[in-house]
Amino acid sequence: MKRTLKWLALGLALVALSRLTWALKDEVPGVDEIMDITHKVKKGLKDLIEAEAKKPKPDWAKMEKDAKEFTRLISLMEKNDPPKGPKASWIKLCKEYTQDVAKVETAVKKKDAKEVLAAIKALDKKCDDCHDKHRP
Ligand code: HEC
Repeated sequence: MKRTLKWLALGLALVALSRLTWALKDEVPGVDEIMDITHKVKKGLKDLIEAEAKKPKPDWAKMEKDAKEFTRLISLMEKNDPPKGPKASWIKLCKEYTQDVAKVETAVKKKDAKEVLAAIKALDKKCDDCHDKHRP
């Protein structure tokens, strides 16, 4: 009986462990996936937030959800190895970009559409810097 319990405990521990590794893996999507979800033309979070901010009556709750997810995903970029180029510059650019994206979230929380649009416009200046160095 004792032995059965031990095996049972071990089995449960293994299940928990594999769930955990699965969850961790799940939390760090690849760079191409992150770029796709956040920057796809018209359907990415960036364009969705921009379109919403331009409406006469923006849905702030929806925008806040999108902006939060935008920051979360971009903050995970640096957890990936750079697809191209040196790691040090990759980490630096990812960290800077995360801060820039977080400014969009801050503006959304203030419900300030003008500031949201300005913060998004500022992002557009950063694409090439990183793509030139790190996009394969
Ligand atoms: C900090 C780095 C960084 C910044 C900033 C950045 N990108 Fe990217 N982006 C990448 C990398 C790296 C890839 C290539 C991913 C791969 O193929 O593995 C990429 C790929 C893409 C792709 C292709 C996605 C796919 O399906 O493979 C699009 C679209 C894109 N970026 C749009 C943008 C736009 C628009 C901006 C600015 C508003 C931007 N990116 C800013 C690093 C960045």
